[in-house]
Amino acid sequence: MLPVAELHLHIEGTLEPELIFALAERNGIQLPYANLDELRARYEFTDLQSFLDLYYANMSVLQTEQDFADMTRAYLARAAQAGVRHAEIMMDPQAHLARGISLETCVKGVSSVLATSEQEFGISTLLIAAFLRDLSEESALAVLEHLLAMEAPISAIGLDSAEVGNPPAKFERLFAMARDAGLHLIAHAGEEGPPEYIVEALDVLGVERIDHGIRCMEDPALVERLVAEWVPLTVCPLSNVRLRAVDSLAKHPLPEMLAVGLNVSVNSDDPAYFGGYVDDNFTELQEVLGLSEFDRVRLASNSIRSSFASEERKAELLAELGYSGA
Ligand code: HPA
Ligand code: ZN
Repeated sequence: MLPVAELHLHIEGTLEPELIFALAERNGIQLPYANLDELRARYEFTDLQSFLDLYYANMSVLQTEQDFADMTRAYLARAAQAGVRHAEIMMDPQAHLARGISLETCVKGVSSVLATSEQEFGISTLLIAAFLRDLSEESALAVLEHLLAMEAPISAIGLDSAEVGNPPAKFERLFAMARDAGLHLIAHAGEEGPPEYIVEALDVLGVERIDHGIRCMEDPALVERLVAEWVPLTVCPLSNVRLRAVDSLAKHPLPEMLAVGLNVSVNSDDPAYFGGYVDDNFTELQEVLGLSEFDRVRLASNSIRSSFASEERKAELLAELGYSGA
C-alpha cells in the first residue's frame, strides 16, 4: 500500500449504512428506511444535489459528541488500511447547527479523536471547517466567528455543497476573515460548476487548493495557469462517476490531467456513498485506466506535497514513498 495523504474527505460522508442504523437505534431515531437494503437502494445518484439530499438526511443520526467521535474513529480505522498516513478532514458545522446540534458537540466529538490519531492509527490529521455555499455569507461569517471565539482546532476553511449558482465570490468576506485568522484556504470548484469558478476561487478567495477542479480541462488557458502555479487539485474519481460529473471511470480526465502536468491527487470525498475509500479509488483506476506504478507514486507524492502537514511530516512520508530529501 502506498503511503498517501487524503486531502478531500467529508467526515459526514464516511457514515456507513451499518453505522447509520446503529446510531439511529442508540438515539431512538426513526429512519425512513426499514433496513440496510432499503437504505442502500437510495445510493443511486443523478447529480450532486440528489446525493446531498441523502447526505444531509442521514446526518440526523449524529446527536452526541460520542456519535461524532465514533464516526471519526471508524473512518481512521478504515483509512489506515487504505494506506492513508495524513488526512485533512472537512466537516460541515452549519449542517449540524441547522438540526439543533451545537458547534461544541460536533467540533469536540470529531477533534477529540483526531487529537490522538497519529498514536492510534499512524495518521496525522487536521480539521477543516467547510461552509455550505447554498446558505448565505452572513450565516457563514457568524459560524466562523463562533469557531474562532471558541478556539476550535481548525487549520483551514473550505466551501462545499451545491455549486452551480453559488459562485466563490459570494464568500469573499468569509475567506478574508479566515485569512486574517491565519487559516489555510480551500474551496470546491469545477466539480459541476464551470471553469470560471476555479478562477474566482483562486483570484477572489485566494485559495491554496481546489477541491475537484476537473472542469478546468475545458479551458486550456486555465490548465496552463494551474500547471505553472502548481495549484493542487484534489480529484475524487469514484465520486465523479457516482455523481455523474463524468460518464464512466474509463472516461475520467485523470490520465490527461497527469499527462499535461497538473498537480492532481486521488481522494475519496464521501467514501461511504461513492463506492470506496482511497485504496478502492486507486485499485479501480489501475484496473480500468491502467494507471502505472509511476503515476500512482506521482499521485501519492503530489498528495503529500500538497498537504498542510509540517515540513517534517511531509519529509517523513516522502521518505516512506522512496524519496530522499524533499
Ligand atoms: N461536493 C460538494 N459538496 C459536498 C460534497 C461534494 O462532493 N460532499 C459533501 N459535500
Ligand atoms: Zn467534496
